[in-house]
Amino acid sequence: MANRLVVGTQWGDEGKGKIVDILRRDADWVVRFSGGANAGHTVKVDGQVFAMHLVPTGILGAQTQCLLGNGVVVDLPRLFDEITQIEAGGIDTSGRLHMAAAAHLVLPHHKLLEAHSENLQNGEKIGTTMRGIGPAYADKTARRGVRAADLLDPDRLRHRLEYVIGYWDSLSHGQLSTLGCTVDSTFDELMQYRDRVVPMLVDASLIMRQAMQSNKRILFEGAQGMLLDIDFGTYPFVTSSNTTAGGVFTGLGVPPRSIDEVVGIVKAYTTRVGNGPFPTEDTDTFGDHLREHGNEFGTTTGRPRRCGWLDLVALRYAVRVNGITHIAVTKLDVLDELDEIPICVRYHLDGQEMDDPPMDLARLDDVEPIYRTLPGWKSSTVGVTEYDDLPENARAYLTFMSDTLGVKLLIVSTGPGREETIMVGQGAGVVV
Ligand code: GDP
Ligand code: IMO
Ligand code: MG
Repeated sequence: MANRLVVGTQWGDEGKGKIVDILRRDADWVVRFSGGANAGHTVKVDGQVFAMHLVPTGILGAQTQCLLGNGVVVDLPRLFDEITQIEAGGIDTSGRLHMAAAAHLVLPHHKLLEAHSENLQNGEKIGTTMRGIGPAYADKTARRGVRAADLLDPDRLRHRLEYVIGYWDSLSHGQLSTLGCTVDSTFDELMQYRDRVVPMLVDASLIMRQAMQSNKRILFEGAQGMLLDIDFGTYPFVTSSNTTAGGVFTGLGVPPRSIDEVVGIVKAYTTRVGNGPFPTEDTDTFGDHLREHGNEFGTTTGRPRRCGWLDLVALRYAVRVNGITHIAVTKLDVLDELDEIPICVRYHLDGQEMDDPPMDLARLDDVEPIYRTLPGWKSSTVGVTEYDDLPENARAYLTFMSDTLGVKLLIVSTGPGREETIMVGQGAGVVV
C-alpha cells in the first residue's frame, strides 16, 4: 500500500495536473482536499487538452475513482459544465466522481462579494481568480456556509440561505437583492442540480477509510502551491485554504499516517499569477523569454504569469512544511536555449545571509536573492524520455536542485504531453 500526496512547491501552476496524470496509473483513487475552481490543471493527452478545475485529474483514468473532499469549495454550475466538457472529450465519468456531503458550496453572492473587495483598490488587491473562493471559505469559517448535504433537505437549504444571504444583504444595505441575488434565485439555481448531486454525496472520511482498508492506493491531488497557503504563504496574497500537506487531513478526514510519499512538483523556474512578493522575478528580457517559451498564461483566467528564476530558499521551505520526500521537475525544456541559469541559493536581508525565508514573509519584498549561476545546455531536451539522454549540464542543474533540497528526483518533465516524461527514481515501493 502506498499513498502519495502531490503538492505544488511554488505559487501554483507547477504542472501538478500533468504529473498527477502520470502517477494516477499507480492509484485507485485520486482525491482533491482543498481549493475549488480557482485551480487550473492542464493535461495534454494525444494532442487533446483537458483543463481540469474542480474535477480531480484522475478522472482521465478509466477505472479511477475520484473524490472532492470536505475541504474543497464546490461551485455546482462550474462543476457540471466541467463534467460536460470532460465527457465531450470521450471520458465517461459516471459513477466515478464523489463529493463529500460536508463540502461547502460556492454561491452567487460569493462572487459579488469578491468583486467588491477586489475593487476596493486599497493597495492590497490580491488579483484573485474571481471564482468566489475567499468569500466561500469566509462564510464556512464564520459558520454561515451552505454545505452539499443541505441539498438533501430543501427546507433546511432554504433556511440556511435565508440566514447567509439575509446577513450579507442587510450588511450591504440591500445591494445583493438590487443585483438580483436573492434567496429565491439562489435556491432555484441550487435545486436544478439536486438530482445530480445527491447520488454523488458521501462521507469522505468513511469512504477513504474503506478504500485504505481494502488496500486501495490513494493519490491526494494538491491544488495551488506552498506560497499560496493561507497560513504559510505570502499573506494576504494567498488563497483561502491550506494548500500544503496539513490540508489533506482536515480536507478529507484521513489520519496523519495516510501518506507514504510526498511528491513536490517543482517548475524548473518560478512563476506567479496575481499580486504579492516574488524575490526572483525577472521583469526584463529573461522573464519574457520564460513566459513565451513556457507559454505562461493562466489556465483559469488567461492572465500572463510573472516569471523568474528557481528559488531554493522558498523550495527548502516547501520541503520543510510538506515533508517532501521526492520532487518532480517540470518544464526543463523551457530553459533549453539559455546560456546560463541563475538559481537563488540564499537571501540577503538587513545585512545578513539567510537559508530560510524571513519569519515575516511580507519582508520577501525586501530580500535580495543571492544567485549561483549554472551553465545552460543549449540543446533541445524536448520530449527526452531517458535520464541519461539529457545533456550533462541539464543533469547537473537537476542534481544541484535535489542535492541542495535533500530529496529524491522522481520525475523530469520535458514537454506537456504524457509521453514527454522521464521516470527517474522509484517511489515508496510503487512501480512508476
Ligand atoms: P498546474 O496548475 O500545477 O496543474 O499547472 P498548469 O496546468 O496550470 O500549468 C502548467 C502548464 O505547463 C500546462 O499548460 C502544462 O500543459 C504545461 N507543462 C507541464 N509540464 C510541461 C513541461 O515539462 N514542458 C512544457 N513545455 N510544458 C509543460
Ligand atoms: P493551480 O491549482 C496559480 C492565486 C490567484 C491569486 C491568489 C488568490 O492551477 O496551481 P483565489 O482565487 O484563490 O482567491 O486567488 O491565488 N491562485 C493561483 N495561482 N495557480 C493556482 O491554482 C491558483 N489558485 C489561486 O492568482 O493570486
Ligand atoms: Mg494551474
